[in-house]
Amino acid sequence: MQDTCEAVRLLGKRIGFVPTMGYLHEGHAALIRRARQECDCVVVSVFVNPAQFAPTEDFSRYPRSLDHDMHVADEAGCDYFFTPESPEMYPEHFSTYVQVENLSSVLEGTFRPTHFKGVTTVVAMLLLIVHPQKAYFGQKDAQQSIVIQQMVRDLHFATQIVVVPTVRETDGLAKSSRNIYLSQRERADAVVLFQALCKAEEMIASGERTSQKIVGAMTQMVTSKPNVAIDYISVVDALTLDLLETLKPGMQVLIPLAVRFGATRLIDNTRVTVPLHS
Ligand code: PAJ
Repeated sequence: MQDTCEAVRLLGKRIGFVPTMGYLHEGHAALIRRARQECDCVVVSVFVNPAQFAPTEDFSRYPRSLDHDMHVADEAGCDYFFTPESPEMYPEHFSTYVQVENLSSVLEGTFRPTHFKGVTTVVAMLLLIVHPQKAYFGQKDAQQSIVIQQMVRDLHFATQIVVVPTVRETDGLAKSSRNIYLSQRERADAVVLFQALCKAEEMIASGERTSQKIVGAMTQMVTSKPNVAIDYISVVDALTLDLLETLKPGMQVLIPLAVRFGATRLIDNTRVTVPLHS
């Protein structure tokens, strides 16, 4: 893949890169289509990265479906499909990791302490292999996009990170490869996450500025469903991920959440600009 990408670059073509873990859906396709619009050559990788899963997590049962993925990527405008194997990415005696401090240890990092170290390590490797002008990430994984933007700035990667809006099912549930783990009942209940995010947006639009009240209202909605456990629902600064107590006019606010429906953990978020006048 390194040689192919180098040859493409030598032709003066701009490479757009979409890293994924496969089981591609409309959310991934939106990233690929955006890359198709903005670049001359689109590379999509599928690699279920063991380093970003804790031993207790779903690495071995993470859904895999390469034929389907190739089809989706192709339809969305992919030119090169890259599916490295684990020994290629993590050969024996592998011992170099990339870690973004602070941003990696809050929110998701509290519940998945080694997760972002795995993500940044593999994304750094993939960016070094592909050398894209632009790499595309989803707003669905807001913290991941922020952590990667920090890594790219800090390590002087010559890649521009593009963040693409979250693609949702018709009822509002964010598309995710993990949605297939949900039972019929959990799937129906999971729409409450989108409803809670909409509620937060409405509260801010109508003048609510106290995070505690926003989180309280969202928590009440989510916990009205059976068998849910909230890992976090937070109101944070959209750039620094610092917790916010009071919202100030013009602030960029991120409201991320992680909620477990039975054994399935879902994440979602919304980004809001606090109105200048209320
Ligand atoms: P994966 O979960 O497969 O997601 C790949 C990319 O698709 C990520 O940038 C993610 O934010 C984006 N994406 C997922 N669902 C989306 C949706 N509903 N709308 C818009 N974009 C969506 O994220 C990873 O893989 C991995 O951590 C990876 C970056 C590939 C590193 O291993």
